[in-house]
Amino acid sequence: MGTTPASIIGTPTPRIDGPLKTTGAAEYSADFHFERMAYAVPVGAHIASGRIRSIDTAQAEQMPGVLLVLHHGNIGPLYRTAPGDDYATNSEVRSAFEDDVVRHWGQHVAVVVADTLEAATAGAAAVRVQYDPDTPNLRVSLDDYSGKRKSISRRGDPDAAFATAPVKVDYTYVTPIETHNPIEMHASVAVWAGDTVTLYETSQGVVNHRVVMAQVLGLPVEDVRVVTRFLGSGFGGKLFPWPQSTLAAAAARQLKRPVKLSVDRRMMFSNVGHRPRTEQRIRLGATKDGKLTSIRHDFLTQTSQLDDFIEHCGEQTPFLYSCPNLEVTTGMVRRNVGAPAPMRGPGAVPGLFALESAMDELAVKLNMDPLELHMKNDADRDEGKNLPFSSRHLKECYTVGAEKIGWKQRTPQVGSMRRNGKIIGMGMGAASWSAARIPCSASVELCQNGRVCVRCATQDIGTGTYTIFAQVIHARTGVPLDRIDVFLGDTSLPAGPTSGGSMATSAVLPATTSAVNEAVNRLLHIATLTPASPFHGLKPEALALTNGVVHAKEQPQVVGAAYHPDAQLSVNGVPFEEVLKLANVGNLMANGKTNPSFEDPKAKQYSLHSYGAHFAEVEWEPDIARLRVSRIFSIFDCGRIINKGAGTNQILGAAVMGVGMTLFEGTVYDPQRGQPINGNFADYLVATCADLPDLDVTFLDYPDYIVNEYGARGIGEIGMAGVAPAIAAAVYHATGVRVRELPVRVEDLLKSDIREA
Ligand code: MOS
Repeated sequence: MGTTPASIIGTPTPRIDGPLKTTGAAEYSADFHFERMAYAVPVGAHIASGRIRSIDTAQAEQMPGVLLVLHHGNIGPLYRTAPGDDYATNSEVRSAFEDDVVRHWGQHVAVVVADTLEAATAGAAAVRVQYDPDTPNLRVSLDDYSGKRKSISRRGDPDAAFATAPVKVDYTYVTPIETHNPIEMHASVAVWAGDTVTLYETSQGVVNHRVVMAQVLGLPVEDVRVVTRFLGSGFGGKLFPWPQSTLAAAAARQLKRPVKLSVDRRMMFSNVGHRPRTEQRIRLGATKDGKLTSIRHDFLTQTSQLDDFIEHCGEQTPFLYSCPNLEVTTGMVRRNVGAPAPMRGPGAVPGLFALESAMDELAVKLNMDPLELHMKNDADRDEGKNLPFSSRHLKECYTVGAEKIGWKQRTPQVGSMRRNGKIIGMGMGAASWSAARIPCSASVELCQNGRVCVRCATQDIGTGTYTIFAQVIHARTGVPLDRIDVFLGDTSLPAGPTSGGSMATSAVLPATTSAVNEAVNRLLHIATLTPASPFHGLKPEALALTNGVVHAKEQPQVVGAAYHPDAQLSVNGVPFEEVLKLANVGNLMANGKTNPSFEDPKAKQYSLHSYGAHFAEVEWEPDIARLRVSRIFSIFDCGRIINKGAGTNQILGAAVMGVGMTLFEGTVYDPQRGQPINGNFADYLVATCADLPDLDVTFLDYPDYIVNEYGARGIGEIGMAGVAPAIAAAVYHATGVRVRELPVRVEDLLKSDIREA
């Protein structure tokens, strides 16, 4: 290996796709237009449960511009993917237009395709559907669940230990349905050529999308191509295909014209997933000096009529703290709502709201500083799996966060801290998220035109994945970023991972590295085997590639000599593209693969997780009942950070979403019809700039070499965990009101006894 320029790995490298996005040149799925393209608009059910008695399409079909009206009676054969296979899908795709059963409000029951969006919209309004309604189950609370609970993790005897614990807390915490609300709406553009189809999709996983849609459409996988060049965020809502993809593809096949179906904001609330409601009972038992003796985390999560989706709230509970007696159990509650889906930090985010809120309540009961309680009970091995941690620095997250927010000045009494005529509250919450190395393949091509191309069928969902590939290529070859072309988001490329579970970065790094290493290796061999090359006859090991230039190792390449148009074949080295020309080699291509951690005997000996902590401060003005989050410090232990800029953005964005979750978000359903009442951007509140505190992100940056050779874990989701309990604890500290059901509302805070600031 040759010397490389000062490593770009770890630096805040600006996104290479930034200019495309800021100039509007980036093409998102709904931006794709084709000759003779038609527009599809779905008709949504107006009941939450029952059967379709009749669908009258006559009027719609006679309207100008309307080309086709499809429903369960005429869509033709679609093939249902079965759950449990090695791809990810959901019940909405498995059941779309399957039969005459309505299982939730807004379920697509017909789709109108027309020459224009306006004609299709008018046509959809003219479709008359009659129903035989049943009484839907839209009960908000899940506490009627009487089924069996599944035990997820158990050790010791938690019930006996709880019964005899000198200090205990026993509370139930509730998080509402939240809807992803990405800026970019879900959209599909389907273009057939003979019996093959290309789907321009809003997908967090083009490879998975392709497999599912091949099954649904009854096609060989090779006959489906899925393209997602850019994504305006997904937050998990675009992990799996939704029915708009099926409907666009089926309509385009029948019409023999390209068809676009873009889901609107209202439909987004009912047809493309949400974070389900959770109800979590936490019981903690402790000794008088604050050592945990029992943890019980029994949670219920909501799902739809057909889906088996569980929001795994108890995932972090078995290993976050040291405790000899523990059990985590779950139960799944069906309602007449659309299918839930993973949403940023699924399980961990609501789960840690409950567990960390209970820890804060325990600290109050113990008359102990919550920071001290966290330190005292920190685990030094994963007691759930009985494995050592690959790398865990959670205690350091606590101490750094405490230092930054000035925790030492915190006085524990409720309402005891004041600043500028406002009451101040401070709280903290721990975060964790699993890490892994999932399979990936990538190819690297050194081109005669002096450019390097890297290709992988993963996608950049807005997180900076394009840039990570370019950083790896630059680090190994020294070729400047503006000569590196990254091709992602297309199933015609080497198979790559879904952008999910915060695992894309750790998956793509090894594959890209091995591909570029192999390409460089071949280049150096070619340089020594080519008679016209000045390196002919040398051993490849005697050569290096620096700044894109091949040179003898003992003759360090002079910086600045690269890419001179008349580059001399001199001792200063030969640009790689000149080596290819001398050898009469076209482009040089090499492939690389990532072997997954679940097949790695070494990795299997460790518990792989990232960690972090949020320290939040709120300001409370009792006279006018105004609460504001004033500061959040986020300290994260996510392995080595590959791009500090994009990485910081991930934690900041997650903290913003966490503020929204804590103070604003919650989807409300009409109790009779099951329509999301606040299913629009005016009524469903998310955190805006005006709501945001000063945010401050610190990465501890300890590499975790068990996960990959870069030591990088994932950072997309973990930042949202721990925000809500930190803010809720700060709210308690300021107001004396303990909010156990999110979001924190003014109505809750009016119960505060603190009257004056
Ligand atoms: Mo994440 S909820 O796996 O996009």
